Amino acid sequence: MTAATSHIIPPHGGELVNLIAPSERSNELKAHSREWSSWDLTERQLCDIELLLSGGFSPLHGFMNKADYESVCHKMHLSSGLIWPMPITLDVKEEFAKTLAPGSSKVALRDPEGVMLAVLHVEDVWQPDRQEEAKSVFGTTSPAHPGVGYLLNRSNPWYIGGRLEGTQLPTHYDFRPLRRTPAELRAEFARLGWRRVVAFQTRNPMHRAHVELTFRAAKTVEANLLINPVVGMTKPGDVDYFTRVRCYQLLISKYPQGTAELSLLPLAMRMGGPREAIWHGLIRKNHGVTHLIVGRDHAGPGSDPNGKPFYGPYDAQEMFKKHEAEIGVTMVPFNMMVYLEAQDKYVPDNEVSKGARTLNISGTELRQRLNEGREIPSWFTYPEVVKELRRSFPPRHKQGVTIFFTGLSGSGKSTIANVLLTKFLETGGRPVTILDGDLVRKHLSSELGFSKEHRDINIRRIGYVASEITKNGGIAICAPIAPYDSVRKQVRAMVEPVGGFILVHVATPVETCEQRDRKGLYAKARAGIIKEFTGISDPYEEPKDAEVTINTADLSPEEAAQEIILHLEREGFVGVNGNGS
Ligand code: PPS
Repeated sequence: MTAATSHIIPPHGGELVNLIAPSERSNELKAHSREWSSWDLTERQLCDIELLLSGGFSPLHGFMNKADYESVCHKMHLSSGLIWPMPITLDVKEEFAKTLAPGSSKVALRDPEGVMLAVLHVEDVWQPDRQEEAKSVFGTTSPAHPGVGYLLNRSNPWYIGGRLEGTQLPTHYDFRPLRRTPAELRAEFARLGWRRVVAFQTRNPMHRAHVELTFRAAKTVEANLLINPVVGMTKPGDVDYFTRVRCYQLLISKYPQGTAELSLLPLAMRMGGPREAIWHGLIRKNHGVTHLIVGRDHAGPGSDPNGKPFYGPYDAQEMFKKHEAEIGVTMVPFNMMVYLEAQDKYVPDNEVSKGARTLNISGTELRQRLNEGREIPSWFTYPEVVKELRRSFPPRHKQGVTIFFTGLSGSGKSTIANVLLTKFLETGGRPVTILDGDLVRKHLSSELGFSKEHRDINIRRIGYVASEITKNGGIAICAPIAPYDSVRKQVRAMVEPVGGFILVHVATPVETCEQRDRKGLYAKARAGIIKEFTGISDPYEEPKDAEVTINTADLSPEEAAQEIILHLEREGFVGVNGNGS
């Protein structure tokens, strides 16, 4: 600790850990690394290693060994006796674990580009009981809890623990001035003369309620404010951090000049509620923070499949309070803020007098309003934030959409798809791409045949391209046979998170297709010249989840295209002009 930072709160365990080796040692490690095995860090591990190397996880000097892991799981303390609620482990595949000798092996830990970030001196290699870990850390083994789901379904089954020597921190190219290590943030607080700092942890966009809450919190404890959003991994489905950070940057000017700072935290959250709140406190302490705002349902994982919340709304506050002295950070508890319409102000819900009319907009409702391009009131958020959110989440008629046809060969898919294409081109506004069965097989899937395996690969490729087009705001019209339900569902799951997905079943009966036999393929299939022909010698699974079903016996191609446009209109994917606004 330098004289300049001596008045800043001591880190957890008394000393700020810095695992980055001096440059000479670092060069030595890099030179030796060719003799060691390598492990490519997962997204979660990359976040963890960044906070280990920088001291954000002080007093940890590496990924936990077995003794610390067990002590943390069962007693919420490290074997040294210091409080620590979350296991920080390096999970690896069994084949990899079996090549290691505890006590002598070294592992080069690398980022996705292969750059070595650290060497791990392997102390322990073991197979944890992940069910047991879930139970003790998260209080449940339900995979609906995001932390448990990750642990049981995504993490590797073996752990390796040991001391780290870092060669460099993970590289980030985005928002660089806003990313500060614990040492940098401490130096910044010292420079600003901030002794009391209250941190606000967030994984969501901030609106007026949050600004009012943080401002009140800072005033109550007479501290400066650190807006400290998580930009590592958050809850699946959250608003991406690029959008969030642009919103935070706009909000920082709402606080009185010089009283609030914004700094990004590369943390991989576990959504562990009470235990996670304590962890957040310790991490913030390492960054020089004295107080932490703990709100309603802090780091909450949501509810189980029966709708029962995994934790009570104030469990995190209770647990934090109980351990506050050991944590060394003061909790600033807060209830949910609600808007009092009559007084045009925000107050905690426990201060609202009976019968007073309060307003609130949930995250789900906000998404709906954005999707539909509806008004977002200024009592809820600031116009500049709305503008930023609308850029990232445009109304549906400006979002990308995939129109995915399925049906037998000769059912009329391509014809209708082409009519639809010309309609979209006529109105303009969004780029349109057609991924027709025959064309795809020529350009993308020329090596594939018609076995189930090959058809599924073909459809997944189409789905991938369509999802990229959709993500970037375009219209993808796909027209393969796509005879199998499960792979159609996979494509839907790829596209829906990034835009619209409309399944159109062209339900022309096989008899009609065979009668038409425009390409002469049915005759060949009957003669056995073409094998595995859909509808003749290969299955077609009728979709039960189609948004639009077209019977070409009743409708002309033009009319069929019109049916689809009407559906898109109803769902808001085309504006009043037919396409775009
Ligand atoms: S799939 O099942 O979705 O991968 O099929 P797809 O890529 O749409 O390719 C279908 C076109 O290939 C021609 N063809 C066959 N279809 C079905 N079964 C067999 N065995 C077969 N062999 C060749 C046929 O012309 C299909 O085109 P469309 O436009 O559907 O008539």
